[in-house]
Amino acid sequence: MSADTKTRASAFVDEKRLAERLAAMARIGATEKGGVNRQALSKEDAAAQQLLIRWGETLGLKPSIDAIGNLFLRLEGADPNAAPVLSGSHLDTQPTGGKFDGVYGVLAALEAVQAIVASGVRPRASIDVVAWMNEEGSRFAPGMMGSAVFAGERRLDTVLAVTDESGVSVADALMQVRSCLRDVAARALDERAAAYVEAHIEQGPHLEREGLTIGVVTGIQGKRTFKVRVDGEAAHAGTSTRAERKDALLAAIAMVQALAEALHDAQDIVKFTVGRFDVKPSAPSVVPSAVDFSIDLRHPDSQALRALGDKVQPICEAHAGVCAVRVTELSSAMSLEFPALMRSVIRDAAARLNLAHREILSTAGHDARYLHAVCPSGMIFVPSHRGLTHCEAEFTTSADLANGAKVLADVLEELAS
Ligand code: GLV
Ligand code: MN
Ligand code: MN
Repeated sequence: MSADTKTRASAFVDEKRLAERLAAMARIGATEKGGVNRQALSKEDAAAQQLLIRWGETLGLKPSIDAIGNLFLRLEGADPNAAPVLSGSHLDTQPTGGKFDGVYGVLAALEAVQAIVASGVRPRASIDVVAWMNEEGSRFAPGMMGSAVFAGERRLDTVLAVTDESGVSVADALMQVRSCLRDVAARALDERAAAYVEAHIEQGPHLEREGLTIGVVTGIQGKRTFKVRVDGEAAHAGTSTRAERKDALLAAIAMVQALAEALHDAQDIVKFTVGRFDVKPSAPSVVPSAVDFSIDLRHPDSQALRALGDKVQPICEAHAGVCAVRVTELSSAMSLEFPALMRSVIRDAAARLNLAHREILSTAGHDARYLHAVCPSGMIFVPSHRGLTHCEAEFTTSADLANGAKVLADVLEELAS
């Protein structure tokens, strides 16, 4: 049979099965308003991993976990010397997350592998379905911990030492998860990878607005993240005079206001977010003694991102007044472009399936950022209803989800052949 007439793996993708698996995963950490809260390395995350392993094992996939908690399910290829092709995303969510961000990429990879198995073709290279540890960075910051350590971009020991708000370290939380996954083999951190493909919801409105089904992702915009600590002094709200006060909240507000003004651009390209803002001691009659806040800054132009990010510390210092301020940069990732070859494999697969598609830049971050540093990587987007994401209203139709999995199945089949 010629390459163009043979039945490709995409023909075996099952929309209903994929939708049912996504619904089952969404029950783990379900929120009252129809979203999902599944924090990295929580008991919900462990339960999601157990379910994924069970599904994989019914297909004969072998699970393994590495030292930073990335979970892999392997479809063994015919050539044991060939480096594996990887595909997946993450199982953790934002606190009021949706049903698709992350988990879709993992389950689309599982569906693609199941389709490849059903097509009767044994790939030459192994295919690993992967769930990267802590992409969101919501419980442990910054995110993309698993993929960053896998790629050698962050040190294992520094990441293991990161603590959450209640002082639990990544190392301790990981031990808890591992105790639920006792029979899973250990995997070396430095295993090679031949290629990586990540399917994801777009998390923006463009594909839906333009009536398109598939986004061939060109790259990922850059992002710098910071944490800021402002220290003042607690005092009585009735007795201390304004002149005596060291009000950490007023200083922090002045900093955020000044940053918002300095980072404002008429074209609306800069993305500046203060998503966390903790006031201490947070009591109505006490002058705030300290504030911790986060900064998430993004721009598609790396030079602009560098220049804007470099303004953060001086602006905070200039508005500290009588308080003290400490700015710590948590991560700095410049914009990147996926290789043309990966983009064309994805584009050709979408075209063969007659799926309307176009190239698109990812303005959200993904684990593919770090995989890009170790092997040819690419991403497939499917539409997000109204672009709503990192919220409980996140929605993509089952048909679009299945179409993304079809493209992924054919791409993985080709890359592993
Ligand atoms: C990923 O979740 C991001 O914040 O871009
Ligand atoms: Mn994601
Ligand atoms: Mn996300």
